[in-house]
Amino acid sequence: MRLNIAIDGPVGAGKSTIADEVARRLGILHLDTGAMYRALGLKALRSGTDPADEEAVTALCRGLDLDVRTSEAGQRTLLDGEDVSHLIRTPEVSMAASTVSRYAEVRKIMVRRQQELAAAQDMLLDGRDICTTVLPDAPVKIYLTASSEERARRRWREMQAKGLPDTFEEVLQQVIDRDHQDMNRLVEPLRRAEDATELDTTEMDFDQVVEAILKLVEEKTHGQ
Ligand code: DC
Repeated sequence: MRLNIAIDGPVGAGKSTIADEVARRLGILHLDTGAMYRALGLKALRSGTDPADEEAVTALCRGLDLDVRTSEAGQRTLLDGEDVSHLIRTPEVSMAASTVSRYAEVRKIMVRRQQELAAAQDMLLDGRDICTTVLPDAPVKIYLTASSEERARRRWREMQAKGLPDTFEEVLQQVIDRDHQDMNRLVEPLRRAEDATELDTTEMDFDQVVEAILKLVEEKTHGQ
Protein backbone atom coordinates (compact mmCIF):
# COMPACT_ATOMS: atom_id res chain seq x y z
CA MET A 1 0.00 0.00 0.00
CA ARG A 2 1.13 3.54 -0.75
CA LEU A 3 2.31 5.62 2.18
CA ASN A 4 0.34 8.80 1.56
CA ILE A 5 0.34 11.49 4.23
CA ALA A 6 -2.16 14.33 4.00
CA ILE A 7 -1.62 17.65 5.79
CA ASP A 8 -4.02 20.57 5.63
CA GLY A 9 -4.11 23.84 7.48
CA PRO A 10 -4.51 27.60 7.25
CA VAL A 11 -2.01 30.21 6.05
CA GLY A 12 1.36 30.11 7.77
CA ALA A 13 0.72 27.05 9.94
CA GLY A 14 4.22 25.94 8.92
CA LYS A 15 2.92 23.18 6.66
CA SER A 16 5.60 23.46 4.00
CA THR A 17 8.70 23.55 6.18
CA ILE A 18 7.34 20.96 8.59
CA ALA A 19 6.23 18.73 5.72
CA ASP A 20 9.66 18.99 4.08
CA GLU A 21 11.37 17.75 7.22
CA VAL A 22 8.86 14.98 7.95
CA ALA A 23 9.12 13.70 4.37
CA ARG A 24 12.92 13.80 4.54
CA ARG A 25 12.91 11.80 7.79
CA LEU A 26 10.56 9.22 6.26
CA GLY A 27 12.51 9.08 3.00
CA ILE A 28 9.49 10.02 0.88
CA LEU A 29 8.75 12.98 -1.41
CA HIS A 30 6.77 16.08 -0.45
CA LEU A 31 4.35 17.85 -2.76
CA ASP A 32 3.50 21.43 -1.77
CA THR A 33 0.17 21.75 -3.61
CA GLY A 34 -0.14 25.46 -2.82
CA ALA A 35 2.72 26.07 -5.29
CA MET A 36 0.46 24.89 -8.12
CA TYR A 37 -2.24 27.47 -7.30
CA ARG A 38 0.49 30.06 -6.81
CA ALA A 39 1.89 29.34 -10.29
CA LEU A 40 -1.58 29.87 -11.76
CA GLY A 41 -1.95 33.08 -9.73
CA LEU A 42 1.40 34.32 -11.08
CA LYS A 43 0.38 33.41 -14.63
CA ALA A 44 -2.81 35.46 -14.22
CA LEU A 45 -0.92 38.49 -12.89
CA ARG A 46 1.72 38.25 -15.62
CA SER A 47 -0.79 37.95 -18.42
CA GLY A 48 -2.91 40.85 -17.16
CA THR A 49 -5.80 38.52 -16.29
CA ASP A 50 -7.94 39.55 -13.33
CA PRO A 51 -7.73 36.69 -10.78
CA ALA A 52 -11.41 37.39 -10.03
CA ASP A 53 -12.40 36.57 -13.64
CA GLU A 54 -13.40 32.90 -13.37
CA GLU A 55 -13.82 32.26 -17.08
CA ALA A 56 -10.49 33.79 -18.07
CA VAL A 57 -8.60 32.11 -15.21
CA THR A 58 -10.16 28.74 -16.01
CA ALA A 59 -9.04 29.07 -19.63
CA LEU A 60 -5.51 29.95 -18.42
CA CYS A 61 -5.52 26.89 -16.18
CA ARG A 62 -6.56 24.56 -19.00
CA GLY A 63 -3.54 25.64 -21.05
CA LEU A 64 -1.13 26.07 -18.15
CA ASP A 65 2.45 25.00 -18.84
CA LEU A 66 3.20 23.92 -15.27
CA ASP A 67 5.85 21.45 -14.24
CA VAL A 68 6.23 20.53 -10.58
CA ARG A 69 9.45 18.65 -9.85
CA THR A 70 9.73 17.02 -6.46
CA SER A 71 13.03 15.60 -5.29
CA GLU A 72 14.92 15.01 -2.04
CA ALA A 73 16.48 18.44 -2.58
CA GLY A 74 13.04 20.10 -2.49
CA GLN A 75 10.38 21.16 -4.93
CA ARG A 76 10.90 23.24 -8.03
CA THR A 77 7.96 24.87 -9.74
CA LEU A 78 8.36 25.64 -13.43
CA LEU A 79 5.95 27.92 -15.26
CA ASP A 80 6.36 28.17 -19.05
CA GLY A 81 9.72 26.47 -18.55
CA GLU A 82 10.95 29.12 -16.07
CA ASP A 83 11.80 28.24 -12.47
CA VAL A 84 9.39 30.44 -10.48
CA SER A 85 9.87 28.70 -7.11
CA HIS A 86 10.88 31.98 -5.43
CA LEU A 87 8.74 34.39 -7.46
CA ILE A 88 5.53 32.70 -6.30
CA ARG A 89 6.20 33.57 -2.63
CA THR A 90 5.24 37.27 -2.67
CA PRO A 91 2.13 38.51 -0.80
CA GLU A 92 0.60 39.60 -4.13
CA VAL A 93 0.92 36.12 -5.63
CA SER A 94 -0.34 34.56 -2.35
CA MET A 95 -3.60 36.47 -2.60
CA ALA A 96 -3.94 35.81 -6.35
CA ALA A 97 -3.42 32.07 -5.64
CA SER A 98 -6.15 32.13 -3.02
CA THR A 99 -8.50 33.86 -5.48
CA VAL A 100 -7.87 31.56 -8.46
CA SER A 101 -8.24 28.50 -6.21
CA ARG A 102 -11.94 29.29 -5.71
CA TYR A 103 -12.97 27.99 -9.13
CA ALA A 104 -14.44 24.51 -9.56
CA GLU A 105 -12.79 23.70 -12.89
CA VAL A 106 -9.39 24.95 -11.67
CA ARG A 107 -9.66 22.73 -8.60
CA LYS A 108 -10.65 19.74 -10.71
CA ILE A 109 -7.55 20.11 -12.90
CA MET A 110 -5.19 20.61 -9.95
CA VAL A 111 -6.69 17.83 -7.81
CA ARG A 112 -6.41 15.34 -10.67
CA ARG A 113 -2.71 16.13 -11.14
CA GLN A 114 -2.07 15.83 -7.41
CA GLN A 115 -3.85 12.48 -7.22
CA GLU A 116 -1.82 11.15 -10.15
CA LEU A 117 1.44 12.14 -8.46
CA ALA A 118 0.41 10.63 -5.12
CA ALA A 119 -0.70 7.37 -6.75
CA ALA A 120 2.69 6.90 -8.39
CA GLN A 121 4.85 7.04 -5.26
CA ASP A 122 4.93 7.28 -1.47
CA MET A 123 4.31 10.93 -0.87
CA LEU A 124 3.35 13.59 1.66
CA LEU A 125 1.02 16.28 0.32
CA ASP A 126 0.19 19.56 2.02
CA GLY A 127 -2.53 22.03 1.15
CA ARG A 128 -6.12 22.96 2.02
CA ASP A 129 -8.21 20.07 0.69
CA ILE A 130 -5.82 17.12 0.84
CA CYS A 131 -7.58 15.26 3.69
CA THR A 132 -11.06 16.10 2.43
CA THR A 133 -10.75 15.75 -1.34
CA VAL A 134 -7.36 14.85 -2.81
CA LEU A 135 -6.53 11.88 -0.57
CA PRO A 136 -9.65 11.05 1.47
CA ASP A 137 -8.31 7.52 2.04
CA ALA A 138 -4.81 8.50 3.17
CA PRO A 139 -3.78 6.47 6.23
CA VAL A 140 -2.40 9.56 7.95
CA LYS A 141 -4.36 12.83 7.97
CA ILE A 142 -3.35 15.91 9.90
CA TYR A 143 -4.85 19.37 10.36
CA LEU A 144 -2.02 21.68 11.33
CA THR A 145 -2.96 24.98 12.87
CA ALA A 146 -1.93 27.77 15.27
CA SER A 147 -3.44 31.06 16.39
CA SER A 148 -3.56 33.72 13.66
CA GLU A 149 -1.21 35.97 15.69
CA GLU A 150 1.37 33.21 16.00
CA ARG A 151 1.11 32.31 12.31
CA ALA A 152 1.50 35.98 11.35
CA ARG A 153 4.47 36.31 13.71
CA ARG A 154 6.26 33.35 12.08
CA ARG A 155 5.53 34.65 8.60
CA TRP A 156 6.62 38.17 9.50
CA ARG A 157 9.94 36.88 10.87
CA GLU A 158 10.55 34.96 7.64
CA MET A 159 9.75 38.08 5.61
CA GLN A 160 12.05 40.22 7.75
CA ALA A 161 14.86 37.73 7.22
CA LYS A 162 14.34 38.19 3.48
CA GLY A 163 14.44 41.98 3.89
CA LEU A 164 10.76 42.49 2.97
CA PRO A 165 9.29 45.72 4.37
CA ASP A 166 5.81 44.57 5.51
CA THR A 167 4.87 45.43 9.11
CA PHE A 168 3.53 42.81 11.54
CA GLU A 169 0.05 44.41 11.34
CA GLU A 170 0.09 44.12 7.54
CA VAL A 171 1.15 40.47 7.66
CA LEU A 172 -1.54 39.70 10.26
CA GLN A 173 -4.16 41.30 8.00
CA GLN A 174 -2.89 39.26 5.01
CA VAL A 175 -3.20 36.07 7.07
CA ILE A 176 -6.73 36.94 8.19
CA ASP A 177 -7.90 37.94 4.68
CA ARG A 178 -6.52 34.83 2.98
CA ASP A 179 -7.87 32.50 5.69
CA HIS A 180 -11.26 34.11 5.27
CA GLN A 181 -11.24 33.55 1.50
CA ASP A 182 -9.89 29.97 1.77
CA MET A 183 -12.42 28.98 4.44
CA ASN A 184 -15.45 30.59 2.86
CA ARG A 185 -15.17 29.68 -0.82
CA LEU A 186 -17.96 27.58 -2.25
CA VAL A 187 -15.83 24.77 -3.69
CA GLU A 188 -13.85 22.59 -1.27
CA PRO A 189 -13.23 25.25 1.38
CA LEU A 190 -10.53 24.70 3.96
CA ARG A 191 -11.93 22.74 6.88
CA ARG A 192 -10.65 20.02 9.15
CA ALA A 193 -11.67 16.59 7.89
CA GLU A 194 -13.58 14.75 10.60
CA ASP A 195 -11.00 11.98 10.69
CA ALA A 196 -7.95 14.27 10.63
CA THR A 197 -5.89 14.70 13.77
CA GLU A 198 -5.68 18.35 14.76
CA LEU A 199 -2.29 19.61 15.86
CA ASP A 200 -2.30 23.10 17.36
CA THR A 201 1.30 24.27 17.13
CA THR A 202 0.89 27.68 18.81
CA GLU A 203 2.96 26.58 21.80
CA MET A 204 5.19 24.07 19.96
CA ASP A 205 8.56 24.55 18.32
CA PHE A 206 9.59 23.10 14.96
CA ASP A 207 11.18 19.92 16.33
CA GLN A 208 8.22 19.18 18.59
CA VAL A 209 5.81 19.40 15.65
CA VAL A 210 8.00 17.17 13.48
CA GLU A 211 8.29 14.59 16.27
CA ALA A 212 4.54 14.66 16.94
CA ILE A 213 3.78 13.99 13.27
CA LEU A 214 6.36 11.19 13.02
CA LYS A 215 4.81 9.59 16.10
CA LEU A 216 1.38 9.80 14.54
CA VAL A 217 2.64 8.26 11.30
CA GLU A 218 4.16 5.40 13.32
CA GLU A 219 0.89 4.85 15.20
CA LYS A 220 -1.31 4.97 12.11
CA THR A 221 0.86 2.77 9.94
CA HIS A 222 2.37 0.51 12.64
CA GLY A 223 5.74 1.01 10.99
CA GLN A 224 4.59 -0.54 7.68
O1 DC B 1 -0.35 26.71 0.96
P1 DC B 1 -0.18 28.05 0.23
O2 DC B 1 -0.28 29.22 1.15
O3 DC B 1 1.07 28.10 -0.58
O4 DC B 1 -1.42 28.13 -0.80
C1 DC B 1 -1.69 29.26 -1.60
C2 DC B 1 -3.18 29.33 -1.88
O5 DC B 1 -3.59 28.24 -2.71
C3 DC B 1 -4.07 29.23 -0.64
O6 DC B 1 -4.36 30.52 -0.11
C4 DC B 1 -5.30 28.51 -1.12
C5 DC B 1 -4.84 27.72 -2.31
N1 DC B 1 -4.72 26.27 -2.07
C6 DC B 1 -5.85 25.51 -2.22
O7 DC B 1 -6.93 26.04 -2.44
N2 DC B 1 -5.76 24.15 -2.10
C7 DC B 1 -4.60 23.55 -1.81
N3 DC B 1 -4.56 22.22 -1.73
C8 DC B 1 -3.43 24.32 -1.64
C9 DC B 1 -3.53 25.70 -1.76
